[in-house]
Amino acid sequence: MKAHIVVLSGDGIGPEVTDAAVKVLDHIAQKFGHTFTFEYHLIGGCAIDAYGTALKDETLEACKRSDAVLLGAVGGPKWDDPLATVRPEQGLLKLRKGLGLFANLRPVKVYQQLVDASPLKPEVLTGVDMIVVRELTGGLYFGEPKGRKELEGHLHAIDTMDYAEYEIERIAEVAFKLAKQRKKKVTSVDKANVLETSRLWRQVVTNVAKRYPEVTLEHMLVDTASMRLITSPTSFDVMVTENTFGDILTDEASVLAGSMGMLPSASLGTSGPGLYEPIHGSAPDIAGKGIANPLGTILSAALLLRYSLKLEREAIAVETAVAQAIADGCRTKDLGGAMTTQEMSKEVIVRL
Ligand code: IPM
Ligand code: MG
Repeated sequence: MKAHIVVLSGDGIGPEVTDAAVKVLDHIAQKFGHTFTFEYHLIGGCAIDAYGTALKDETLEACKRSDAVLLGAVGGPKWDDPLATVRPEQGLLKLRKGLGLFANLRPVKVYQQLVDASPLKPEVLTGVDMIVVRELTGGLYFGEPKGRKELEGHLHAIDTMDYAEYEIERIAEVAFKLAKQRKKKVTSVDKANVLETSRLWRQVVTNVAKRYPEVTLEHMLVDTASMRLITSPTSFDVMVTENTFGDILTDEASVLAGSMGMLPSASLGTSGPGLYEPIHGSAPDIAGKGIANPLGTILSAALLLRYSLKLEREAIAVETAVAQAIADGCRTKDLGGAMTTQEMSKEVIVRL
């Protein structure tokens, strides 16, 4: 098949990890007889430096025309001023919203050989294989009003948590469909004892569950969920939650996998190209050193093959090669080893 992929490397270690993933995709194309073409654009801080905006409209249009988008990371200390009006993260949010990517899938899998890389006990980690379905275009990230204002002589900052029924329904549908193909259990995470949006969330998810009698639904408060994720992570299969909770819980979940550098993600809408990115950030402390772990991005490329290109065999080939490299002891610094980004991606490629 032919596929056109937009690569948005972004900031910090972004270019290093996307380069590694592109090499893997090139290799897959060769091996399986596909033609993948790549088009590069700027996003985040580097786009602010070049154009004064974190994501140009033209870049968004190029993404819309593509079959899939591969992204590295955005942000860095250079653009971190809290008073700045243009910020790298705006590019990412505009991209997610602009492509209608409401469903963010974050699989969390613990490789047995990496249990020692996590500070948690091996017996807690063994067998962890879950997926977080994070709502990505609603909630606090996008709710209006948002901003600052003076009220009775005091400066206030306001963010709004807003969820429409249809937004909850469509993300719940994604979660239940996934659960049907997995262990048939959905944990819906909310803060229904405090938040009105969470009470609507619970009500809508409960209604969607009626269409999936074969799937067990469990509701859990977010504070409890954050504890259970560490004490009994194997009790989860599919976890569905709103935007902010999903952001926080998936960083926590990355501790299970041994490193932030291991976790991939796929962001999907109802149609059109998907966006694939590792869940880690731009890691300015190690940027440019060539030591970043590329596996989160390589595994994101596997999700790209699976979800946007419908190349399941190729996706499995990449995932198997990564698992083999791990099993054979390949380790970047974050995993306690000394391999460079390029060495690690070569090790994956030779196993393809
Ligand atoms: C993530 C990141 C982003 C988010 C930031 C960079 C805006 O933390 O993808 O998890 O909060 O969604
Ligand atoms: Mg995050």
